[in-house]
Amino acid sequence: MIDPGYFITFEGGEGAGKSTQIRLLAETLRAAGHEVVVTREPGGTPLAEAIRGLLLNAGDPPDAMTQALLFAAARHDHVTRVIRPAMRAGQIVLCDRFTDSTRAYQGEAVAEDALEATILLGTAGLVPDLTLLLDLSPEAGLGRARQRGAAGDAFERADATYHTRVRERFLALARREPDRILVVEADRPPEVVAASIRALVEAHSAIDLAGAGA
Ligand code: TYD
Repeated sequence: MIDPGYFITFEGGEGAGKSTQIRLLAETLRAAGHEVVVTREPGGTPLAEAIRGLLLNAGDPPDAMTQALLFAAARHDHVTRVIRPAMRAGQIVLCDRFTDSTRAYQGEAVAEDALEATILLGTAGLVPDLTLLLDLSPEAGLGRARQRGAAGDAFERADATYHTRVRERFLALARREPDRILVVEADRPPEVVAASIRALVEAHSAIDLAGAGA
C-alpha cells in the first residue's frame, strides 16, 4: 500500500542551515493546512537519541562500519515508530538528515554494497519522496557551525579535506538521482534559500502550498 503522507529529507554538510530551513518550510506547510512532523537523524526516538549520544560524543570513535550499523539501528527504530506511522496518517515528515548522510559520511570507508545493505535494513525500504541537498563550501559551513558556539562533535572535528570529500559525495548522489535529490545553493540569505525551497517543493511534489489545506 502506498502511504498517503509525504517524506522530505534535508541533507548537506555542517552549518548549511538545515534546521532553519526545516523550521521555515514546516511553518509554510502548516499555514497551508498540512500536518507536519519535524524530526532528525541520528535521533527522533529516545533509543535513537541515545545512539546519537554514543556516536557524536565518542571519545574514541568506532570504525565506519560500526558507525553505519549504529546509524541503521537508530534509523530502524525511527522509521518504524515515527516516520512510517506519520506517513500512514497522511502527515508530511521533514527529516534533518537521513540515508544520504550515511552514504556521504560513512561511504568513504565502507564498501558500497555493504553500506547499501545496512541502509536497506535500517530503512526497511523506505526512500524519501524528495531530498533537498543544501550545498555549501565546507569553509563557509564550518565557519557558521563554529559561530553557533559548538565545540564540534566527532564529525565536525574532522579535517577540511574530509568535509570537501563529503560535499563531493553528496553532489555525486544528486547527479545519480536527479529526480529525488534537488541541490539548493545554501550560501545565500536564509529567506532567499527558503523561497527556493518552497518553489522546488511546489514544482516537484503534489503538496499544495497555497493555503487551502491538504
Ligand atoms: P548534527 O549535529 O545533526 O549535524 P548538523 O548539525 O551538521 O546537521 O550531527 C549529525 C552528525 O552525524 C553529522 O556530522 C553527520 C553525521 N551523520 C553520519 O555520519 N551518518 C549518518 O547516517 C547521519 C544521519 C549523520
